[in-house]
Amino acid sequence: MAIRNIVKKGDSVLEKRCRPVTEFNERLHILLDDMKDTLLNSGGVGLAAPQVGVLRRAVIVIETNVPEGEQEHIIELINPEIIEQEGEQTGPEGCLSLPGKYGIVTRPNRVRVRAQDRNGDFFEADGEALTARCFCHEIDHLDGILFPERAERMLSPEELADD
Ligand code: NI
Repeated sequence: MAIRNIVKKGDSVLEKRCRPVTEFNERLHILLDDMKDTLLNSGGVGLAAPQVGVLRRAVIVIETNVPEGEQEHIIELINPEIIEQEGEQTGPEGCLSLPGKYGIVTRPNRVRVRAQDRNGDFFEADGEALTARCFCHEIDHLDGILFPERAERMLSPEELADD
């Protein structure tokens, strides 16, 4: 496993629509393992394949809504699609590809995603609050959409300094 370089805004790879994953092979597993190392090393909560330069529909998200005493775990979503959404949340959002930038983005408060796992088996996953925000943010990456496009406004340096 290895930490890969995170592509930063300005690189056209972040603006492209990714192709579906069709081969659930060793190469995909290495990509997902490397994405996990890269995410855990970065302090973020989600990462999409194009952020490590791979134009395929794969994302990983840390599920942070776990009962006390339980470990946070990483959800791997291959070819994910949002099939249900409910409610609304408005709050600050950032991205590992835009270090130091935050914007106010409205997202659904709960989403259900249908995806494949690393072996190609279909499953559904529910996300609430931060996890729902993260599912939406990472799936946007697969369509070349970065959060400032969704933001009602970006936070100023003064607002960031208040935190
Ligand atoms: Ni991002």
